[in-house]
Amino acid sequence: MSKAIVVLGSCIVDNITYVSTFPRKGETVVGRRVATGCGGKGANQAVAAARLGGNVRLIGKVGDDSMGRFYLEELRRSSGGVDSDLVTVSKEDSTGTASITVDDAGENTIIIVPGANESMTLQELEAVRSVIEQAALLVCQCEVNMAVTQQALLIAKQAGVRTLMNAAPATAELPDEVIQNSHFFCVNETEAQTLLGMKVTGPGDAADACKRLVEEKGCHTAVITLGGQGCVYHTRDGHGGHVPTVPVTATDTTGAGDCFVGAMAYYLAEVRELALPEILRRCCLVAAVAVQHPGTQTSFPYKQQLPAELFS
Ligand code: RIB
Ligand code: NA
Repeated sequence: MSKAIVVLGSCIVDNITYVSTFPRKGETVVGRRVATGCGGKGANQAVAAARLGGNVRLIGKVGDDSMGRFYLEELRRSSGGVDSDLVTVSKEDSTGTASITVDDAGENTIIIVPGANESMTLQELEAVRSVIEQAALLVCQCEVNMAVTQQALLIAKQAGVRTLMNAAPATAELPDEVIQNSHFFCVNETEAQTLLGMKVTGPGDAADACKRLVEEKGCHTAVITLGGQGCVYHTRDGHGGHVPTVPVTATDTTGAGDCFVGAMAYYLAEVRELALPEILRRCCLVAAVAVQHPGTQTSFPYKQQLPAELFS
């Protein structure tokens, strides 16, 4: 078996309510439908990569409660083969939850309560050090305890393992070391804006922002996703550009960014000979499938559902 894509990531139970328009402050609106599913940016990325055919191991934490049991069962049943042996159960904390609303335009609002995701410790990380050191790629986000995430990126870097950091959700307080220890650093427009304190809308701004992430912040390769406009990248050796995509009509954009990052992990780890612009073009097409279906993990495609050209 190939070396694993190791995801240090969040497991969160998503409660998604579908509404025509978001309620304003103090307003009550009637929703259309509510659905419970598995989310959490980390686990989402793990599932997206596994469904494409990646060999994926997830390091995570749920609570000792019904949601945690539901989560572990779903990972075994429908994650596309994510190895969840390193997802531990916390006695003290509850499973992470997300309250999500999705409107008719497919846009969302999300409130997360991290719970067990936040309580992972450096000792617990130490116990899985060798798993990270032997990985094909380490993938991290900002929903697991930041000190642990930072240390995981360092362990990977020192072992010569490539890292893919998705700095989501947005934070202005991301430690500089996190970006410096990220080989691939991926954010969306809002996250780039928060991190850099500059306006990032559209490919032009995003190209400038990518350059700054590489030249001032120190990652090797920066990628900024732009939804229906594709993405923009820049690398330390001065390559860069805009990768456009085919716009689609969105049903539910929740988790589309995670689908993109998971696809990136898959292509980087399992299809080593592809050039970065081609990887990114394919990632946009995989993520476009996710926005056309409701839910987070429920909307991520399996390899068999995608055109063969994405795997040649
Ligand atoms: O990116 C989408 C995810 O963000 C949801 O699954 C939710 O759990 C939050 O982590
Ligand atoms: Na979706």
